[in-house]
Amino acid sequence: MDGRDLVRSVRAVGSGGAAQGVRMVRAAWRRRRADATGLPRRGVERARVPGLVQGVEPGPGGGVVRFARSELRIMVAVNGGVFWGWDGAGPEPSYALAGSGPEPDPRAVLEPDKDGGWRVVAERVTVVVSRHGAIEVQTPGGVTLRRDLPPRWWEPAEGGGARWMQRSEVTPDARFFGLGGRASGPRLRDGTYRLWNTDPGRPFGPGDDPLYITMPVHLVVADAATHLVFHDTSWDGTVTLREGEEGAGSGHDRAGTCEIRMDGGPLRCWVMVGTPARVLLVWASLTGAAALPPAWALGYQHARWGFGGEQEVRRIVAGYQERGLRLDAVHLDIDHYDGHRVFTVDQDAFPKLPLLAEELRRDGIRLVSIVDPAVKAEPGDAVYDGGRAVDAFVRDATGRVVEGVVWPGEAVYPDFTDARVRRWWGGLYEERLGQGFAGFWHDMNEPVSFTAFGENTLPRSSRHVLEGRGGDHREAHNVYALCMARAAYEGLRELAPDERPFLFSRSGWAGMQRYGGTWSGDVATGWPGLRASLSLVMGLGLCGVPYSGPDVGGFDGSPSPELYLRWFQLASYLPLFRTHASLRAGRREPWEFGGDVLEHARAALAERHRLLPYFVTLAHLARRTGAPYVRPLWWGEPDDRLLRDCEDAFLLGDGLLVAPVLDPGAERRSVPLPRGRWYDTATEKAYEGPGRVLVDAPLARIPVLARAGAVLPVRGRGGGLELEAWAPARGRSGEGLVVPAMGDGWDEPEIERYVTRWKGRRVVVRREGDEGRSEPARPVRIRGLGQG
Ligand code: GLC
Repeated sequence: MDGRDLVRSVRAVGSGGAAQGVRMVRAAWRRRRADATGLPRRGVERARVPGLVQGVEPGPGGGVVRFARSELRIMVAVNGGVFWGWDGAGPEPSYALAGSGPEPDPRAVLEPDKDGGWRVVAERVTVVVSRHGAIEVQTPGGVTLRRDLPPRWWEPAEGGGARWMQRSEVTPDARFFGLGGRASGPRLRDGTYRLWNTDPGRPFGPGDDPLYITMPVHLVVADAATHLVFHDTSWDGTVTLREGEEGAGSGHDRAGTCEIRMDGGPLRCWVMVGTPARVLLVWASLTGAAALPPAWALGYQHARWGFGGEQEVRRIVAGYQERGLRLDAVHLDIDHYDGHRVFTVDQDAFPKLPLLAEELRRDGIRLVSIVDPAVKAEPGDAVYDGGRAVDAFVRDATGRVVEGVVWPGEAVYPDFTDARVRRWWGGLYEERLGQGFAGFWHDMNEPVSFTAFGENTLPRSSRHVLEGRGGDHREAHNVYALCMARAAYEGLRELAPDERPFLFSRSGWAGMQRYGGTWSGDVATGWPGLRASLSLVMGLGLCGVPYSGPDVGGFDGSPSPELYLRWFQLASYLPLFRTHASLRAGRREPWEFGGDVLEHARAALAERHRLLPYFVTLAHLARRTGAPYVRPLWWGEPDDRLLRDCEDAFLLGDGLLVAPVLDPGAERRSVPLPRGRWYDTATEKAYEGPGRVLVDAPLARIPVLARAGAVLPVRGRGGGLELEAWAPARGRSGEGLVVPAMGDGWDEPEIERYVTRWKGRRVVVRREGDEGRSEPARPVRIRGLGQG
């Protein structure tokens, strides 16, 4: 038992008494025994490399290149992505792909290259394969973005799956991003990052890795182009990154390197090349469009572990209402369950939950329920009995149902990699809908089993159906939460076909955006935690998961009034805007931190409410284009080095630049600006980019700048949609997209495109396609005119 294990067990014992501690020790031993008998021993291994090229076999979008000891399948897809797989691996089966993956591009063909190699030339990328099996990814202009050395496998002499290693080089100027939700990004500095979804067992900060969502997806941003690489393998692995270095003209450039080691699974990957926007578009077309949250989920949400009961929920809601603070949702944590059992309600504390839900809904407030996957192992529990009846629970190699320990004590785990089990689980949300819940918060789904020592998850030898292929937890672990989200999403679509499901999940994998978003998990209260929470949102956005946000104030302890306020202000510009904290943490209501904080939080809430139509627009654009709401400053100018290295500010859509305060005592901060004119939205003072500027950041607000020419949909005083247009610089024009909200159903609103330009001494805003009209049908307010 190391120090962390001890902390973990103390935490669980603290919440469940000594009996829980004993359970955790037993669970740890069970886990160890199961793996000792259920996993093949590795024994002697033989190393293998592809060897020399032997020949090729053309096929759709590319073909197969045969080597002495492996074969490489290459396929350029119609969406512009390139797939390649060693040892004959194809794109399917895959948990990441939406549907059955894109069709091959018939125009892409294998042709001979120099020195006995081969290449595939496509519209946006050229892939060159050397006769030893090195693979180069080049821009259409011939610049090499990435060079994969021939891979290496280690195979057990007694047969069985191979481990593998892939080493790659990237350009010396390149920066790495992604790999899921990482606390010390968004720029991924030199180090080793693990690919194994993990509950750190205590509130995390920037040094903690891995966390709840890991993905074998990384983005490489370089002068020549941006590219994204996805190794479609769900097994445990590591990615070791080392940024390169430019020789400043001396010619001694050092390439950046990326080394991926996987414990198993196919060696296959997808590569996308282009601008950041282009790359994310292709990624979204590969892994699926992001679920569109209902408009209320873009408002402000209050969660709490330990509400106590209905009275306390009413008291908190009244606290918001009396102070005129807009609240859109209340989240109930595990304490509203009966004995911590999922899909139950503690009738003493919440005797009339459907009535409470109804009352709240009349005030425009939705109820969201936590849903944990583990089911208390207790005959008589309806979910347990129902699950047993359909053989839903994960078994070990001997056929016994695997028991772990979570909040309710001994618990069993549905096998979400089985379509039959997903269907059963999805149906269980009917009970939740009946209680009046409008949204779902998936938790503990890495999945977690508290343990006194070793890993806090299921035994690696646990068996999973894996869509009929069969396999064990080494392969299923990282996709467990993704499959749970799928079960809920598909169940909800059947149970409430007229409403878009709202769910967000602590754990997940590539493609999870199809079903919903996530949040930052148990981020530690403190200034480093504040920074980490922004890192997660940005990193996840670049992995295709646009909807996320932190626990405002951090999960544990008590933030200072200043820290709480800065967190609140940052989150008010993030897609998921939610306060939440642990059972033992201090209060998180905005009025608990003194009059000044209350007033400033009120202003942040009011501004969020005003910007709601902009958030709705960004949600639609994320779904249609793969572009996250929250984008790094380099989004439109990836070759600007200053922007590429900025980690503490972001673009919110195309129109706004948000520069949160992440340090105590700061009342000014420097902001690197992308090209063009930017207005401080509080003062309307204009700044010219590119370059770095110093802006005021008083406690009352964090700096938010608007791009000259931008058109932002906002809520007008009367509640209707208005356009806020920021004057373009003289002689320039600008534009903005608006997607009006259409309720919480499936109607597809039309995208409205507006153009701003100078006409004589006036700035005019026109809707495209509306040329005949002199003004758009929506009310317009022009700002930034003082700077003409
Ligand atoms: C986990 C979750 C946290 C939740 C708690 C109790 O720690 O991350 O959000 O409050 O469990 O359910």
